[in-house]
Amino acid sequence: MLPHLATLLLLPLGALAAAVSREDLTLAPRAVSPDMSCGASKSYTCPSSAACCSQHGWCGATEAFCLTTAGCQTRYSNASSACYAPKPGVSVSIDGTCGSTGAGKNGYRCPGNATVTSCCSVA
Ligand SMILES: *[C@@H]1O[C@H](CO)[C@@H](O)[C@H](O)[C@H]1NC(C)=O
Ligand SMILES: *[C@@H]1O[C@H](CO)[C@@H](O)[C@H](O)[C@H]1NC(C)=O
Repeated sequence: MLPHLATLLLLPLGALAAAVSREDLTLAPRAVSPDMSCGASKSYTCPSSAACCSQHGWCGATEAFCLTTAGCQTRYSNASSACYAPKPGVSVSIDGTCGSTGAGKNGYRCPGNATVTSCCSVA
């Protein structure tokens, strides 16, 4: 009788513990942003039309929002794949560096029509 009673008492506790740990996994509830703001303050994520949450907490779809080197926040973007690393020779510089020699570390190209080789200093 006693072991049976213990089981009855422990079962609801176990269910409660499972519910709590499931809550921990999702942390705070997250909602898709109604106003293009995103990030930890309101826990808003970005809509698919502007999938990247920038380092400043705004949703957008350009590299200024999406580059991991620009601080794209994977956790608050529409999908974990929304943020991406710069594409060498394709991504426009966000910090004045370009190419992959000297100060250039990310293979950024210069803004405008210029190609990496036509504008980027080697030093
Ligand atoms: C991604 O965007 C779609 C459409 O805007 C939305 O329904 C979905 O909840 C978003 N996902 C996240 C994680 O914000
Ligand atoms: C330069 O860029 C403009 C606008 O993106 C484009 O219309 C033009 O064709 C480009 N010119 C060259 C030479 O690539």
